[in-house]
Amino acid sequence: MTPKVLIPEEKIRQRVQELADEISEAFQNTPVTIISVLKGALVFTADLMRFLKSNVEVDFIRVKSYRGEKKEKLEATYKPELNLKGKNVLIVDDIFDTGESLQFVYREIAQHSPASIRTCVLLEKEVERKVDIKPDFVGFKIPNRFVVGYGLDINDMYRELPYIGYLDK
Ligand code: HPA
Ligand code: MG
Repeated sequence: MTPKVLIPEEKIRQRVQELADEISEAFQNTPVTIISVLKGALVFTADLMRFLKSNVEVDFIRVKSYRGEKKEKLEATYKPELNLKGKNVLIVDDIFDTGESLQFVYREIAQHSPASIRTCVLLEKEVERKVDIKPDFVGFKIPNRFVVGYGLDINDMYRELPYIGYLDK
């Protein structure tokens, strides 16, 4: 099944460029240490970092959820190896949905004593959230439906699509 287009390739490219300008302005040409959340933010990160005007370091974090005794829990199965102490970190994630993943990554990164942490997501779903955190930079707000493409997956499929799409049920 081919996903229907929600955000076409050209619109993504334009917006990613604009986002990069917003971020470059916020960092005032000082170095940015990107922490990209695998695997979903892979494509977005690769495009975004090429438009930034600052010097960029990049590392990754991989988060998986597992069933705890009472509820879903998150754990980092890969953690950044870069020394983050005193760095100005930009966490880059694909989608702000429940917010739990971004909150988890934020807390994980905060433990490494960076000078600052800002957060950037490509997509923000319009849903009610239980977390305090709000991303500093948002590419697109989207309705509450499951999307794939441009890094986002369902069962690891469709990450390679150049657009953001949705599956008709
Ligand atoms: N698509 C893919 N991955 C996701 C989504 C989505 O809509 N929401 C949270 N993770
Ligand atoms: Mg996924």
